[in-house]
Amino acid sequence: MREPEVVVLPDSAAVAAEAAARTADVCGRAAASRGACALALSGGETPKPLYALLAAEPYRSRIPWGRVEVFWGDERCVPPDDPRSNYRLAHDLLLSKVPLPAGQIHRMPGDTRDHAAAANAYAETLRRRLPATADGWPRFDLILLGIGDNAHTASLFPRSAALRERARAVVAEYVESAKMWRMTLTVPVLTHAVEVVFMVSGAAKAPAVRAALEEPPNDEVPAAFIRPADGRVTWLLDSAAAADLTRYGRSGRA
Ligand code: 6PG
Repeated sequence: MREPEVVVLPDSAAVAAEAAARTADVCGRAAASRGACALALSGGETPKPLYALLAAEPYRSRIPWGRVEVFWGDERCVPPDDPRSNYRLAHDLLLSKVPLPAGQIHRMPGDTRDHAAAANAYAETLRRRLPATADGWPRFDLILLGIGDNAHTASLFPRSAALRERARAVVAEYVESAKMWRMTLTVPVLTHAVEVVFMVSGAAKAPAVRAALEEPPNDEVPAAFIRPADGRVTWLLDSAAAADLTRYGRSGRA
């Protein structure tokens, strides 16, 4: 299992710029090598400047959008037009601004009343649209992730059943701390991606980043479980988010 790559950058704008360059690179390479790129987007505040960069030149023209299949790492179980929706965030900032065929945008149906059935349906979509690993997991070319102050990632929260799930690719769970149902990819899917890129900014995240990178995986630190089976995990951190690290230098490379 490869060590994560850690890149420390001056600020959140630099994190977004580096994430945009890497997203374009992965999409270009996957489209050239297998004719498609399976991309999972993240929610929350951090990816907003990234999505704005990808919707503008040069990335609007550079990324082969006609060969990109867009999915989500997680979703709040709300309607697609709800301000809390990760789908709405990406649609408004990115997907409505690039030439991506509507049939290649795969929203997590979090607003479906039967959450378990909706999670199973999304897992079936992954099985149909993505290549599979040798042990049968859907394999993304790139998964973009963030981390919460409590070290959750996607919608895998500390001490949750979703975090412990190792049989299903997608699950839904009521998250007490968020006071809402969430749907999420599970650890096996996240760890079987070709590339995972974490984007993290701000001092409030520094303790969670240190725990995720420097402590052994445990139920209190969900992001620590995202270690590649045979892919690459990169952490793009601004200086404030990297401040508590003891094993990585200023350049961030171990
Ligand atoms: C979500 C995200 C979640 C997010 C972290 C960080 O649905 O909220 O998928 O995992 O990445 O909570 O959120 P911020 O970027 O807003 O700090």
